[in-house]
Amino acid sequence: MSILTVLEFPDPRLRTKAKTVAVFDDTLRQLVADMYETMYAERGVGLAATQVDQHLRLFVMDVSDGNDQPKVLVNPRIIEKRGAQVEQEGCLSFPGVFANVERASWVKAQAQDADGKTFEIEAEGLMAVCIQHELDHLDGKVFVDHLSPLKRSMLLKRMEKQRRVAS
Ligand code: NI
Repeated sequence: MSILTVLEFPDPRLRTKAKTVAVFDDTLRQLVADMYETMYAERGVGLAATQVDQHLRLFVMDVSDGNDQPKVLVNPRIIEKRGAQVEQEGCLSFPGVFANVERASWVKAQAQDADGKTFEIEAEGLMAVCIQHELDHLDGKVFVDHLSPLKRSMLLKRMEKQRRVAS
């Protein structure tokens, strides 16, 4: 396994619309294993293939406290959603910045596992946020797209400032 490089905003490749996964082979399973390793190494709760410059419709997530409930969703789509919640979100492609985003509070998604088997998953709270956030990545969207222009520019300025301090 290997740790993959995570693209950072404003890298234009984050705007790529991912393609449906049609082949469930060892190459795909290797990508999933590498994405898990990358997500855990970077202390994220979710990672979309888009973020590691692989433009296929899949993401991994683990919202458990013990990092022991890995899940992969291949070709995911939300088939039902309800309610609204506002939670603070971060993103491995936006190091050091966080913002409140409004999302559905409950979602039901259909996806395939790494072997191509279809399953459904119902989620609320953090997992519901994660599913919606990662699905956005596969459509070339990022969480700051949900903010007002003013909030977004403030956040991006803060990120730029931190980047200057860090370099
Ligand atoms: Ni993200």
